[in-house]
Amino acid sequence: MAYCMDNDIAEVLISREEIDNIVKRISAQITEDYRESEHLVLLCVLKGSAPFFGDLVRHLGIPCEFEFMRVSSYGSGTCSSGELKIILDMNRADISECDVVIVEDIIDSGNTLFKLKQYILDKGAKSVKICTLLDKPDRRLPEIKDKLTTDYTGAQIPDEFVVGYGLDYNEKYRNLPYVGVLKREVYEK
Ligand code: IMP
Ligand code: MG
Repeated sequence: MAYCMDNDIAEVLISREEIDNIVKRISAQITEDYRESEHLVLLCVLKGSAPFFGDLVRHLGIPCEFEFMRVSSYGSGTCSSGELKIILDMNRADISECDVVIVEDIIDSGNTLFKLKQYILDKGAKSVKICTLLDKPDRRLPEIKDKLTTDYTGAQIPDEFVVGYGLDYNEKYRNLPYVGVLKREVYEK
């Protein structure tokens, strides 16, 4: 029988319908907040936030430009290494006129976004806000907790390893249409 990804999922955490509602709610908020912005840039953090980014921008009611970056603070497993590695940078010389919204899949320790936000600010962006589909507040590093605020959050979730709708385990499960908790037996072999 063909391999079915759903069999590796212990529980559906965010259904397709819930994702749809999250996308519409956040798009409406961003549309409202940036109505006066002259240069809005939505920055997709590859690869995980690609589906969320694609859905989000289609619901925006105001003009925006796209940028893409690929960074990594994770190895191939389920633990953060703490270092921000820029694998692909945005191809833009000057962002000093830009209001940037970073679109992420999930905030875990907070390492990636804390460092990425600083990087974009150091490049001279006019403003930087953070939009994340998921947030695991229980996992936030104490030294980052007070320094990193998220401006748009889809849902707060418990400390579980989740996959789907962009999120992966060893590059798999990104194309699941919902977010689910990965069965422990899949990664604790
Ligand atoms: P942080 O730097 O610890 O906040 O990690 C953020 C990154 O770790 C995310 O962009 C994801 O790529 C990855 N990550 C954290 N938690 C999960 C999870 O539950 N499933 C899949 N990837 C995760
Ligand atoms: Mg990510």
